[in-house]
Amino acid sequence: MINLEKQSGLPIQMRDDYGLVFEKGLPPVTPNVREFSAMRNYLKDASSTFWTKPVYYMYRNIAKTEDREAIDKSGIQYDITVVLPGKMGDEFSKTIGHYHSFEPGTQVRYPEVYEVLYGRAIFVIQSATPDLEQLQEAYAVRMERGEKVLVPPGFGHVLVNATDDVVITANWQPSKNVSDYSSYEKHNGAAYYVVESERLGHAGKTSTEFKFIPNLNYKQLPKLIEVRPRELPQYELRSALPSYFSGVRDLSKLDFLVHPSKYLDELIPDKLFVT
Ligand SMILES: [Fe+2]
Repeated sequence: MINLEKQSGLPIQMRDDYGLVFEKGLPPVTPNVREFSAMRNYLKDASSTFWTKPVYYMYRNIAKTEDREAIDKSGIQYDITVVLPGKMGDEFSKTIGHYHSFEPGTQVRYPEVYEVLYGRAIFVIQSATPDLEQLQEAYAVRMERGEKVLVPPGFGHVLVNATDDVVITANWQPSKNVSDYSSYEKHNGAAYYVVESERLGHAGKTSTEFKFIPNLNYKQLPKLIEVRPRELPQYELRSALPSYFSGVRDLSKLDFLVHPSKYLDELIPDKLFVT
């Protein structure tokens, strides 16, 4: 069992079979399961060996009973994603990736906040023209446990588990968001794939690392910029504090998720990432 209570702020544990256990009266949520069979069009190698186990679990819209009304009223939801370790061909386990829908009446896509509850994660994020045909920018955000990343408006995102252990993330996103997977499906994944790379370490020992491989299904590829997430105290997003806690303590701090058009100057990569 992995106890996620300290990291998430919610009484949740993960069993050895990767299922989450909701404790102390926290209303349980049935996960959506992403099976390998639904991932083929999103992979570098569509013919890679079939996984009999699921690839990831999505637990949507979790809340303590006493927080439910306020969270619903603020128009956002808190989800947890569990990404199993493993490889598909030489590519590491990942989510299929999507862009978000637009804030109504604007040309601004909804942003999202992710937090690593367990393990180490890489987010490959990319922006595109409004029709999603032409890529503009691409970043790989490396994240450690406790860290938060704000995925800026207009950026699609893939969560990659390039480790041999499970990765568990939490996220806040607008409840009205509708995810658009089509561009990722059409191009067989994100702008860059994360694949295994053997490195010769000390005393001739090899260690498994990762590297980024460009996805040539995109006509024009922006250069990949490797970054780390900034602490964002203006939104109460600090690595020391579970985002569930800070979110429910003052939901107005997460207003940028629902009304990103009001915060456009702030929600740009330069202000969110460190190179
Ligand atoms: Fe998302």
